[in-house]
Amino acid sequence: MMTSEPVLQDSFNDTIRALVQALDLHEPGEAGHSERVSVYATATGHELGMSYDDLIDLRRAAALHDIGKISVNPTTLRKLGDLSEEELEELRSHALMAMRIVESFEWLRPTVPMIRHHHERWDGEGYPDGLAGDQIPLGARIIGACEAFDVLLTGSPWRHAVDDDEALAELRRCAGAQFDPDVVAAFAKVQPLIQPVGN
Ligand SMILES: [Fe+2]
Repeated sequence: MMTSEPVLQDSFNDTIRALVQALDLHEPGEAGHSERVSVYATATGHELGMSYDDLIDLRRAAALHDIGKISVNPTTLRKLGDLSEEELEELRSHALMAMRIVESFEWLRPTVPMIRHHHERWDGEGYPDGLAGDQIPLGARIIGACEAFDVLLTGSPWRHAVDDDEALAELRRCAGAQFDPDVVAAFAKVQPLIQPVGN
């Protein structure tokens, strides 16, 4: 058993890498996002005292949180300006589509709640289930804040990119509404220590 474990870990990591690469090819403008969010989330979870096993699941969930975007039309993903109700619906479906992909791997089951709920908001105004506060799995709250930071830093079709300080200020401004204040505080503590990752 002991001898097969490293091989198994390698194949788990290869599977995640392959899925992330498929997503990066589908949405080249976002390449590197999954990897960066994974690093931010793991550091934040560690700061919040999560166990080693939980951190492994969090790292995997963060790497795969947007994998459902593979089912979203690239034109919708790249669209500037207002999205129609239908396009918004399609975009939002990525949280549930990701679950379908991930659920097929037994060893990724613990990531399912974190992936499903990474767009919930602390105030209950998020999706897909409108969960609020502690109802949202901690890992999902962490991924949500870390993902927002990365989107602020890299910019989006809707918004120009900002620097680290401005992005952190924005997270703090939205703490208690969109984000868990404790998660934002933990992220703000570790973020300056994180080396740049991805592209
Ligand atoms: Fe997402």
